[in-house]
Amino acid sequence: MKDKVIELIKEAESFTSKDANEIEQFRIRFLGKKGVLKDLFAAFKEVPNDQKKEFGQLLNQLQAKAKERIEELKNASSSTSSTGKGDIDLTLPVLNETLGARHPLSLVRNEIIEIFARIGYTVSEGPEIEDDWHNFTALNFPEEHPARDMQDTFFIDEKHALRTHTSSVQVRVMENSTPPIRTISPGRVFRNEAISARAHCIFHQVEGLYIDKDVSFADLKQTLLYFAREMFGEKTQIRLRPSYFPFTEPSAEVDVSCNICSGKGCNVCKHTGFLEILGCGMVDPNVLKNCGIDPEVYTGFAFGMGIERIAMLKYQINDLRLFFENDMRFLKQFKSTI
Ligand code: DAH
Repeated sequence: MKDKVIELIKEAESFTSKDANEIEQFRIRFLGKKGVLKDLFAAFKEVPNDQKKEFGQLLNQLQAKAKERIEELKNASSSTSSTGKGDIDLTLPVLNETLGARHPLSLVRNEIIEIFARIGYTVSEGPEIEDDWHNFTALNFPEEHPARDMQDTFFIDEKHALRTHTSSVQVRVMENSTPPIRTISPGRVFRNEAISARAHCIFHQVEGLYIDKDVSFADLKQTLLYFAREMFGEKTQIRLRPSYFPFTEPSAEVDVSCNICSGKGCNVCKHTGFLEILGCGMVDPNVLKNCGIDPEVYTGFAFGMGIERIAMLKYQINDLRLFFENDMRFLKQFKSTI
């Protein structure tokens, strides 16, 4: 019996293999539930008492050797495979990790913020759940104005709604600060509209507001020309068309020369050479008064644009829904440092 154990110790010491399967077979034969060690320990009680000590030590030695050997061989086999012989080939080029990228709407919003920051505009924000005063009344919307209608607005209760535009933030800013005010307010807005390639019930706007002494329409025009050229390129032209908004007087809609055909006329600009990007005007004296600013002392202008619209023109995207579907094939095309 003793000789058999010594024999097995030698065998364990000399066993070698690089094959994970063979190593496992070895482990089962020596250490498994029906392995040799199990049998030997079972036979221990038959060993005469005077030999028990020596035999016991030999058994422990065999068990330790077998374990040690398995450990060594396993380590050796895993390190050989990682040097190129196993499943992993270290000479292969590294696979590109798919890094996240900013959403195109965030890119455009950040770019708008940067462009206006360069001429001294701060960023201000307001709540998405807005009261009637900030979304409508202070902005000179008459009681019966259709924009208050259930079809356009998601009402929460009698006095609260999801804001339908970021113009509500200009009211909050004017109420809480004294001129000069130069701020833009980016944010999410909500309208009860059917979702299509051109409309969505959730979209994003940037509101701009400039209030000071002697602010004129010429200042507004020049500011918007500066913005359009920074955003769409230095050859960009702008065109102002008279329009109506309750909160500005006079009001205008602003078009930029089509950045696809450079104003020559194409499908995108419907052969007009121009694309509409925003609404603007001189802040109505009623609005100034509503917000605690003296219209006899101060004047100012405001403008509002849709971020989706700017992004669609800038990147030539023809379906608004793409911004909200989170399709990786779409999102992956936008990379930027801002
Ligand atoms: N609030 C308008 C809208 O959602 C956009 C707008 C037009 C904002 C003219 C303005 C402005 O500040 O002066 O359609």
